[in-house]
Amino acid sequence: MHKIDIDLVEMTLDVMKYAIDRISATEHPIGKPKKAEELKNIVGDTVTPKGIGGEYAFNLWRQHLSKANVPVDHPRNLAFVPASPTRAAIMFDLVTSASSIHGAYWMEGAGGIFCENEAMSWIVSLTGLPEGAFGVFTSGGTAANLSAIVTAREHWREDETYKREKGLIITSIGAHSSIKAMAKVADVDILLVDSEEELSGDALRKTIDNLNFHQRKRLFAVVATGGTTNAGIIDDLEGIAQVCEDEKLWFHVDAAYGGGALAADSVRHLFNGIERADSITIDPHKWMFSPYDCGAVIYKDPELAKAAHSQQGSYLDIFKDEGAHGFNPTDYQIQLTRRVRGLPLWFSLATHGTDRYKEAVERGLELAQIAGKMITEHPDVELVRDPSLSCVLFRRKGWQPEDYTEWTYKNHKSGFALVTPTKWKNGDTFETVSRFCFINPDTTEHDIQMILDSMK
Ligand SMILES: Cc1ncc(COP(=O)(O)O)c(C=O)c1O
Repeated sequence: MHKIDIDLVEMTLDVMKYAIDRISATEHPIGKPKKAEELKNIVGDTVTPKGIGGEYAFNLWRQHLSKANVPVDHPRNLAFVPASPTRAAIMFDLVTSASSIHGAYWMEGAGGIFCENEAMSWIVSLTGLPEGAFGVFTSGGTAANLSAIVTAREHWREDETYKREKGLIITSIGAHSSIKAMAKVADVDILLVDSEEELSGDALRKTIDNLNFHQRKRLFAVVATGGTTNAGIIDDLEGIAQVCEDEKLWFHVDAAYGGGALAADSVRHLFNGIERADSITIDPHKWMFSPYDCGAVIYKDPELAKAAHSQQGSYLDIFKDEGAHGFNPTDYQIQLTRRVRGLPLWFSLATHGTDRYKEAVERGLELAQIAGKMITEHPDVELVRDPSLSCVLFRRKGWQPEDYTEWTYKNHKSGFALVTPTKWKNGDTFETVSRFCFINPDTTEHDIQMILDSMK
């Protein structure tokens, strides 16, 4: 398995050709899933005692299995939070894999971690956090949010008064599902402010004032969202920062999706207050054009994260020795062994420069505004709310929930587009509506027009 022979050389060329074709393609199918039984019937047993051979397995991948995926970088894939990794970043993902770097400790991954830190310095500079703030790349927003909240909780529990208390955090129903998921993992309770619109400092203040004595004692953090997944709404970060400061609460901003927009001059002011956060989540695999998976968690005081996350073990002592001295990413988040997943982003940033990133993010914002205008002028559809960041919520007049579902499947099955329904809270009821999320700068106005016109 670890020897080089002619078959391996040929396989390497085949794999490289596949990667080159994919990286240089200007168009590719939108892709659609098949049931597991269907795939099994097509490909048969693939993992057997003797192996089926690389060539055969690779053909199965090329002809059948790769087509059962729905690539996130299709310009008419506007569902969920899509992605659009740059070609430079994808190329360097190959280099990252080929380099076998253990990215936990400087001693083993100094070159890769150096590059990651270059990219991280740029991201941190976008936040406006004070000198000393820094972060690490994680597997995604969920891991970043979890790492941040565990740091907050451990810091809170340094005070004897709270040692045996179960923590409580406040966020709003607009927060991403991963906040609830990570609260479960961290075993902290979560209190949701019941509004999907912007969470204001005043609403937070009122919520805190309504807590009973024991709840207030258990409250240690507030999670604001810097661009909600459903609608692109940015909470009142300035107001929330003030309340957190007054109440001595940890202030976390989940900007997993919206964080890329910190690079865009046109909307940067909407994030004012983020520079007062104790921790911030930003996903480069969303709006910073990085391949999966690449999240980031940033701390105002990284030493607090180190106190919470640094792993101890006699086999790890050498990494902390003088001779191995350097920045150890593992100390600041929940994972030990890690890929240097910030490396593709670094290469892309180094290749293109940060101005090109600004332009690409601005294009996503512009597409949302263009879509908003087209929707307003279209006879069959109307805006549910004004576009926010790169999210647009709109309704097809007269449609029931099942109409949206059928339309989604029809467009997807025909290989035309992937635009999925969502729900928007309207008073006490949830209305099913449609949603665009723009990331890919290659999406065109014509794409948007065709999608709207398909809502017959
Ligand atoms: C605001 C927000 N936070 C967290 C996440 C979770 O991130 P990930 O899927 O990278 O774990 C998402 C994903 O869409 C998100 O939009």
